[in-house]
Amino acid sequence: MGGAAALAVSIAGLTIHVMTAPSPRKLLLGITGGIAAYKAAELARLFVKAGWQVQVVMTAHATEFVAPLTFQALTGREVRGALFDPQHEAAMGHIELARWPDAIVIAPASANTIAKLAQGRADDLLSTLCLATDKPLFVVPAMNRLMWSNAATQDNLALLRRRGVQQLGPGSGSQACGEIGEGRMWEPEQIFDSVSAALGQTKDLAGLHAVVTAGPTREPLDPVRFISNRSSGKQGYAVAAALASRGAKVTLISGPTQLPTPAGITRIDVESAEQMLGISLAAAAEAQIFVGAAAVADYRASSVAPEKIKKSGEAMTLTLSKNPDILARVRAAQPALFLVGFAAETEKLAEHARGKLEKKQLNLIAANWVGAGKAFDTEDNALSLFWPGGEAEIASASKAEVARQLVDRIIALYRSR
Ligand code: CTP
Repeated sequence: MGGAAALAVSIAGLTIHVMTAPSPRKLLLGITGGIAAYKAAELARLFVKAGWQVQVVMTAHATEFVAPLTFQALTGREVRGALFDPQHEAAMGHIELARWPDAIVIAPASANTIAKLAQGRADDLLSTLCLATDKPLFVVPAMNRLMWSNAATQDNLALLRRRGVQQLGPGSGSQACGEIGEGRMWEPEQIFDSVSAALGQTKDLAGLHAVVTAGPTREPLDPVRFISNRSSGKQGYAVAAALASRGAKVTLISGPTQLPTPAGITRIDVESAEQMLGISLAAAAEAQIFVGAAAVADYRASSVAPEKIKKSGEAMTLTLSKNPDILARVRAAQPALFLVGFAAETEKLAEHARGKLEKKQLNLIAANWVGAGKAFDTEDNALSLFWPGGEAEIASASKAEVARQLVDRIIALYRSR
């Protein structure tokens, strides 16, 4: 994808290695109808400045907001819009155009376009290209806060994310319609940085083995009941996927979740904390990086009833015993492992997170606020990172994007040891 190619030629017994010049990267920038379309001009400019070839495709509604000539002037290419345009079809037909770019970015992506993509419609050039491509697709939503929070929009985006579409934003703040809320398009610099980072990923973890725990644990009470928690596993799965995309061999030790296994990852399913501990200790012995993202139940029933517990009095008392601390046990067994923990807090986040960092002898801890709709079983997350001698924030973004940034930090700290 646009990188320099190496060519080895043998002449008279000598091997000459030739590096060809990198070919420019190609972006198809889809622009749909919304006031944020004016910001797409700056986005196009950023990509062009960075050496990308940019082909803009506008929907009919987009042209009501910004004239195609603006983009033609910025990109040096005629803007495409019509699905049936004999002149353009003769030069580069829509199927060819769908294969041309290294990535497609739709910014702004209106609720209508998002709905069309979710349904697989192909009733204009942009939606047709998205259906006919196998290139990475980035969707940058921008809309009124009520359109954004509408269940239809949320369901459509959840479907697109499951299919591998990368969602960037939205942010929140004052909107063009005068309201305040979520739905603002990400700023062009933020979009540019995320797309470049996602596409420019190097396999800098090649040869390393990473273990990730994710999801809740289930602590049985009897054959039909258990104690558990609200963890969906999404953040842990996203971390596993981000580590794999950087070339690591990844073992995902998962409590019960509804999530598909990310590509290229070995997943081992467990239920209880004790099972998770056993598998973790075995996997950690072969690994260099261990990320404990699971929401491990701190306590389990002191005794598990062999038969279903029958109701009796007005109240019942359960006796619980403390579960082993998986991270602490992994650290004790593997002193050289790069160990990452999570901390979910409802108060004094930094103080509690730093306490856990020290107590469990972690190399890095990622803390997030929980409660009141935050983090557990949500699509977005924000993290405060703490490590011995440093700290950083990861701003609210999709769990995939947060995972990517967390893995950047893991790599930097792992290398600096
Ligand atoms: N963890 C673990 N084993 C446990 C409990 C938690 O390895 N038995 C890990 C989690 O995977 C997470 C981190 O420890 O990485 C969370 O720390 P912990 O102190 O257990 O968090 P809480 O359960 O939220 O602790 P507290 O109730 O003290 O806030």
